[in-house]
Amino acid sequence: MLHGTGGDEHSLLPLARALDGNAALLSARGNVLEGSAPRFFRRLAEGVFDEQDLILRTNDLADFVDEAADKYGFDRGQVIVVGYSNGANIAASLLLLRPESACGAVLLRAMVPLQPTTLPNLIGKHVLMLTGEFDPILPPENAQRLATMLRQYGADVTYELLRSGHELTRRDIELATEWLASTACPPENR
Ligand code: MLT
Repeated sequence: MLHGTGGDEHSLLPLARALDGNAALLSARGNVLEGSAPRFFRRLAEGVFDEQDLILRTNDLADFVDEAADKYGFDRGQVIVVGYSNGANIAASLLLLRPESACGAVLLRAMVPLQPTTLPNLIGKHVLMLTGEFDPILPPENAQRLATMLRQYGADVTYELLRSGHELTRRDIELATEWLASTACPPENR
């Protein structure tokens, strides 16, 4: 679980439980501070990212998942990353830069985080993108570009435009719950 700007590792736990009451949860706190608000990477302005920092933090996050997989004994191939806003953006970056970290992702209000220089192979990865039609922070045309990009790299992407803004709605929970229940990751391989 990857929270939005100003959240922490506890913020999305109620959402996680609503999506799947039985899943094992790993929830991270972004270790970049904007004022006192935790984030997963630095930004220069709203929607303008410090790409070098994003790459560094994405690799840190992938290493954190690796270490957690060893420590707690889970298979990265079974991980579904669920991110909201800033957390969705680093989740998308994780898929683009370190796709071995997860089976797929639920991206709640995401945009294109960066353009990868090495083309990732996302065949077999599953992505649900839920975008707010009236989201002023993560505009639908940018989110749509991310969906196209992920598809070009081979991911199986479900993209839905919701009648909402940046905030999450009951419809997000319904769609993500259904998607998770119908998404199969490859068998365990540890
Ligand atoms: C970001 O910085 O990742 C996006 O602008 C979303 C946010 O406001 O956190």
